[in-house]
Amino acid sequence: MKILAIESSCDDTAAAVVEDGRKILSSIVASQISDHKIYGGVVPEIASRCHAETIGAVTEAAMRKAALDYDMLDAVAVTFAPGLIGSLLVGVNFAKGIAYASNLPLVPVHHLRSHIAANYITHPSLQPPFLALVVSGGHSHIVLVRDYTSFEVLGRTRDDAAGEALDKAARAMGLPYPGGANLDVMAKGGDHKAFSFPHPRVDGSQLDFSFSGLKTSVINLLHRAEQKGETLDLRDLGASYQWAVADCLIQNTMKAIEITGQKKLVIAGGVSANSVLRDRLRRVCDRQNIDLYLPSLNLCGDNAAMVGAQGYYEYRSGNIANLLLNATASLAIDYR
Ligand code: KG4
Ligand code: ZN
Repeated sequence: MKILAIESSCDDTAAAVVEDGRKILSSIVASQISDHKIYGGVVPEIASRCHAETIGAVTEAAMRKAALDYDMLDAVAVTFAPGLIGSLLVGVNFAKGIAYASNLPLVPVHHLRSHIAANYITHPSLQPPFLALVVSGGHSHIVLVRDYTSFEVLGRTRDDAAGEALDKAARAMGLPYPGGANLDVMAKGGDHKAFSFPHPRVDGSQLDFSFSGLKTSVINLLHRAEQKGETLDLRDLGASYQWAVADCLIQNTMKAIEITGQKKLVIAGGVSANSVLRDRLRRVCDRQNIDLYLPSLNLCGDNAAMVGAQGYYEYRSGNIANLLLNATASLAIDYR
């Protein structure tokens, strides 16, 4: 089954053709980094306009690369939630147009579900059930994936997402957008023991996260140094901060493994590209005999191939929309 997938939830315009949920026939991503960089972050209005300008060409390129005509497709899948509403609307309406014109089923895909599904492409034998740590710019979740379309959230952030905490800290250190990725590069080789950060605990939950205290403490540290005219070693600071963020993520995830007895762990979302998180998880999982599944680096950030992968399983479970499909800015991963 060949699915054309469209993704436009944030600042990447992407289209892909995926076969049977696991094989990429083509995948095109047009990044908007250069459009948002001067503002230090994503400007929603600019993002929507960029999507509208690019989505046609990106989709044509994906179809050309897959060497397919529209009548050779079996469905159109599109990210409809969660994300920036203006951005989502561009993709949803574009997908509706293709579905209508080519008489194809329209499959709505939840963005975080698709991040998890990036792993079905990277690891063709991976099947639920498993535990997933989903860490992106807007979300930090520990999820029990019971089946391809059945999810239970076991832990979530009470304030900032891990990606947001990394982005804001990177910005305070003077790094350009996208902060998390640049912080990862800048901190390579830094001493992670040089600075100590608080280990936030969340009242009443072993699995929920809180990153706002960590974020505030690094910003305060930078401000204090500036006021005193001191220069901090940013490489060491970045390394220590990333280590602290990874500590929180790993601690709660391993607790969730202990509680659920799951032996398979999947990591997903933009932050899953982080080199410190990947290295440390590999080591911890090795020690504890947990099978760890990391998405390949090109599938960690937003892309449409992952939407085609999840779209396949949504289609098979009967999740098909009509032309009344609307975009939704926030929606839980376990929506029904
Ligand atoms: O999944 P994603 O591409 O978009 C959302 O759905 O939010 O995630 C974006 C997040 C940003 O916070 C970005 O800084 C972070 O992923 N990110 C990273 C790295 N690459 C992207 N964070 C840490 N290390 C990286 N290498
Ligand atoms: Zn994402």
